[in-house]
Amino acid sequence: MDKIDLLKDVEERCKSANLPLKEGATNLVFGKGNPSAKIVFVGEAAGRNEDLQGVPFVGAAGKNLDKLLSSVGLSLDDVYVANILKYRPSENRDPSPEEIMAHTPWLVEQVKVIQPSVICSLGNYATKFFLSGGDVDSMKKMPGITQVHGKVRMIDFMGLKIKLIPLFHPAAIIYNRSLIDLWERDMEIVKSEINQKTL
Ligand code: URA
Repeated sequence: MDKIDLLKDVEERCKSANLPLKEGATNLVFGKGNPSAKIVFVGEAAGRNEDLQGVPFVGAAGKNLDKLLSSVGLSLDDVYVANILKYRPSENRDPSPEEIMAHTPWLVEQVKVIQPSVICSLGNYATKFFLSGGDVDSMKKMPGITQVHGKVRMIDFMGLKIKLIPLFHPAAIIYNRSLIDLWERDMEIVKSEINQKTL
């Protein structure tokens, strides 16, 4: 099976799984983009628009993600985009540890199929998840995004060697305009990292 079919299979199994938040959601928000991408962006959870369309990052935060991608010369053909949670939490509240624990095995399956060289973690939850090596119990001990944004590091994630680039969440800059300069500086880091021949 190629990566497209493998991911479809993961998505079908995820759809039939009895996950928390499924009941109140309209659609599963599994992922979008190129299953053979070398770069994966991971956000937190679907918002209202994503829940309605079943596609990640189609709302206001998605517009910022699109800007980020085009500013570093990338399109959806070059990347894959997914979230920590596969269903929208009501009122866009923060994910609970139990929800993260139940949903992230699906993210792990996605990453194992795609085998990216680079993961850009968007915001606190995705960043702490990857920094902890996928150990949800130790996520709370990990440094927050304000401390680690733009700091590139190699991680060992489930046996895969991946370059992690933590970034502010694209929604954060909608609510906090003072982050824009930092966000733009981080984009330069993304640009130089993805231009290295090691990808
Ligand atoms: N925020 C996220 O983290 N993911 C989405 O899909 C949309 C907004």
